[in-house]
Amino acid sequence: MSTPTAGRPQFFPGGDALDDLELVRHGVVDLAGVALPVPASGAEVIDAEGVPVARLGAASTTDEGRPGDIVWLGHLSPRPFERLYLSPEQVHTTRSADEVTAVVARPLRRTDVAAIRDWADGRPVLVLVPAGPSTNPHAHTVATIRSVLNAARALHARVVTLPLNAARAHADPARQDAIVDAWATGPVAWLDRAGSALAGSEVIQAGHGTSGGVVVMLTGLSGSGKSTIARAVREAVLEEDGRAVTLLDGDVVRRQLSAGLTFSPEDRDTNVLRIGWVAAEIAGHGGLAICAQIAPHEQTREAVRAMVAERGGDLVLVHVATPLDVCEGRDRKGLYAQARAGAITGFTGVDAPYEVPTDADLTLDTSRRSVAACRDAVLALLRERGHLIAAADPEWSI
Ligand code: ADX
Repeated sequence: MSTPTAGRPQFFPGGDALDDLELVRHGVVDLAGVALPVPASGAEVIDAEGVPVARLGAASTTDEGRPGDIVWLGHLSPRPFERLYLSPEQVHTTRSADEVTAVVARPLRRTDVAAIRDWADGRPVLVLVPAGPSTNPHAHTVATIRSVLNAARALHARVVTLPLNAARAHADPARQDAIVDAWATGPVAWLDRAGSALAGSEVIQAGHGTSGGVVVMLTGLSGSGKSTIARAVREAVLEEDGRAVTLLDGDVVRRQLSAGLTFSPEDRDTNVLRIGWVAAEIAGHGGLAICAQIAPHEQTREAVRAMVAERGGDLVLVHVATPLDVCEGRDRKGLYAQARAGAITGFTGVDAPYEVPTDADLTLDTSRRSVAACRDAVLALLRERGHLIAAADPEWSI
């Protein structure tokens, strides 16, 4: 865990570059080959949620064509399917003697499963799935991982995801080979190396929810655990249900949709209303939007509820009621300390108000319940309201 160094420029390089940095961290690729717009004076790379990942020095600029100094600060915030991102070392130390490797970059068909089984000829299989951008995988990638996980039971395979964007990697086969080889055990087979588009009806997949759209709005103080719960819910829904999920995280939205807005009361309302509008659109198309903003004003939250209802969606308001002293004790981004020191003014809970919801559908306190328990409480509520399917459609299982 670390906090940003005051005064040092920070930048979010995008999901693919974060994956590249993870490859550097694993020793699989060289920093010199990673395209990063690093200021000459050095900078801190942050992930999409603002967590510092690495500090780069002046010598890290790629145009110098050599690896510069790099200091690893923290780990990426957990991603969907996080448990599948093993390091090459983890894969190699846990391999069985005659294991073989299949690389899969598109959802499996039933015939693919038979082909892999024939090829493996009784040997245990390691399936590698290029899954980048890993912090925000595309729907096609999620479908691939889900189909591979389903097939893994029939194949006696273990599944490992790689922080590698298959479409991007395809443009540089030599680099792609080198990266895959770092993880591979035994002989390597590629399924449809060209990454051809899918046709036919034999794609292995699971069903999706049949209810209308839904918005999960997590509101609470900075550091209360909104993003963590939001991520856990997103991951569970992606893995178990397959419904299209959009995570509208506070810090991420403020860099994009709400870039330029301040933390004045008016700008906060604008921010929350914009997110509410987007979330309502998503719900209108049958998706699930998970919003994680402080959203300190009751009236604004009510306006969002109305917008969602107008688009035919169901708003589930979750108050993440972790006490202020606990949030402040965590201070993951070092902002409470700055607010107490007067370096930041108008900070929620310190010198700006948070109006406790009177109409929450669920109240959670991450200092009293684990993240898993909080996640499960949200999932149970979604299930109760008919927003999640109970289990994968048996028609699709192998
Ligand atoms: S909201 O009030 O408009 O809903 P939002 O959730 O988007 O806030 O952003 C909150 C995040 O911005 C916090 O988690 C924190 O990292 C950062 N932040 C920066 N300045 C402030 C501030 N004055 N008050 C609260 N959070 C702040």
